[in-house]
Amino acid sequence: MKRERLSVVLIILLMTILVISCSDLKKDLPTATSAGPDIHGQGWTDTASGNFHGKAIQMDGWNIAACKQCHGPQYTGGSANVSCEHSGCHADGSGNPKSPESCNTCHGNFLAAGDDTASWAPPKSLSNATSPSIHSVGTHQQHLVSVLMVSGKKVECKECHVVPATVSASGHFGASPAEVVFSGPLASLKTNNGAVVPTPSYDLTSGKCNNSYCHGYFKNGNYSNTPVWNVADGSQKKCGSCHGNPVTGNPLPGGSHPSAPQDFPLALNYCDNCHSTSGFGPIATYDGTTWTIQDKAHHINGKFSLYDAEYPF
Ligand code: HEC
Ligand code: HEC
Ligand code: HEC
Ligand code: HEC
Ligand code: HEC
Repeated sequence: MKRERLSVVLIILLMTILVISCSDLKKDLPTATSAGPDIHGQGWTDTASGNFHGKAIQMDGWNIAACKQCHGPQYTGGSANVSCEHSGCHADGSGNPKSPESCNTCHGNFLAAGDDTASWAPPKSLSNATSPSIHSVGTHQQHLVSVLMVSGKKVECKECHVVPATVSASGHFGASPAEVVFSGPLASLKTNNGAVVPTPSYDLTSGKCNNSYCHGYFKNGNYSNTPVWNVADGSQKKCGSCHGNPVTGNPLPGGSHPSAPQDFPLALNYCDNCHSTSGFGPIATYDGTTWTIQDKAHHINGKFSLYDAEYPF
């Protein structure tokens, strides 16, 4: 008899503990869940819902790691037995599963492969913006996709940002808007034997980028060229904008650059008379009307090409 009563008490105690720990779990959830069909509440998998899990993570200070508690350290199941990678949701456009911590989950092109670095950058932005006129989107793709560029060489993220090695790297989720820090070698490359020192900076309000090597802060370049980050109409990649004459579009630099020789005044417009790289041919050609970059890989690469060789300058 006594024994039975003890077991009843024990069972009640056990159930109380269970109930408490379950409600604790519920309380710990990163979203305030209304009564819904599942543990997370209605709309959790609907991108259009206010209760979408991406939004919940954003509200929780981008703490995606909190989901590991039940979905496992690699998000592949855990105690919830629901894998983010193999659910068909966290997958690229070809159906290959990818981690929710992929660099194109929260910003960039979600459907691209996880190792496609250009897809890490907006669009889309963190707030789902896709228009280049919005600062958070801007001309990212114009700097990252070769066909859109005057130089075909992808500008690395580190030229303009401190790049986190992992999602949880310190500094990643810093103050909004995202920090623009010119930490790569190209934007601040010195020229003229170290005498011309670019101090690149980005103006949050105007969206202007000042004093970068890439856009003209180099020997005989257009020092005062200040391209606007969120203008993507092609006007800022025209010949003459970074070096030469912005009004006529003639790219020929002024200053100490060779000027027209007496015997052949037009020869200088034919840049390929002098500017070529061994094995790759001319940097640019002129047909009497238009200048065309022929060798994108050796233009805006930090060196100038002259008579089949490359030099710092
Ligand atoms: C307390 C444990 C727990 C935590 C923490 C948790 N989940 Fe879950 N999750 C579950 C369980 C259990 C299921 C499966 C049952 C269900 O759908 O209710 C699930 C299911 C899901 C589903 C599938 C829902 C569906 O209807 O197909 C998604 C998506 C999901 N969780 C995302 C997340 C994200 C994102 C986080 C972090 C913000 C997270 N979960 C945190 C327990 C948890
Ligand atoms: C959980 C969502 C999430 C994931 C996953 C994620 N990011 Fe971010 N990322 C953010 C947020 C939020 C910001 C903006 C922080 C701010 O406004 O300062 C950001 C900003 C950035 C920036 C701009 C510079 C900065 O720190 O502000 C870079 C570069 C970046 N992320 C690269 C990456 C890379 C590389 C990965 C993969 C290792 C990655 N991100 C994965 C949310 C994410
Ligand atoms: C030429 C410079 C440049 C390059 C290269 C660049 N970014 Fe940015 N990035 C910016 C600027 C400028 C902003 C906008 C800051 C603002 O909000 O005004 C920005 C903003 C961002 C943001 C914040 C988006 C948001 O929604 O707020 C992320 C994330 C980001 N960049 C990631 C990347 C990644 C990843 C790469 C490389 C694949 C990259 N960026 C390459 C200049 C650059
Ligand atoms: C007659 C040969 C010659 C022709 C033609 C020529 N350049 Fe140059 N270029 C040079 C030399 C030599 C230098 C190195 C000048 C210096 O830095 O002292 C140079 C340097 C440059 C530089 C680096 C900045 C500088 O002045 O040092 C740029 C940019 C440039 N040239 C662009 C052009 C363009 C664009 C054209 C065609 C419109 C062109 N050049 C035609 C000989 C030429
Ligand atoms: C976004 C800025 C920018 C624009 C726009 C631009 N250039 Fe340049 N250009 C540079 C920089 C920077 C250099 C310095 C050398 C280097 O880094 O390759 C350069 C150098 C050159 C040179 C010297 C050879 C060399 O090594 O590259 C030629 C020739 C040239 N540019 C032609 C052109 C022509 C033609 C156009 C228009 C189709 C043009 N550039 C538009 C930035 C620009």
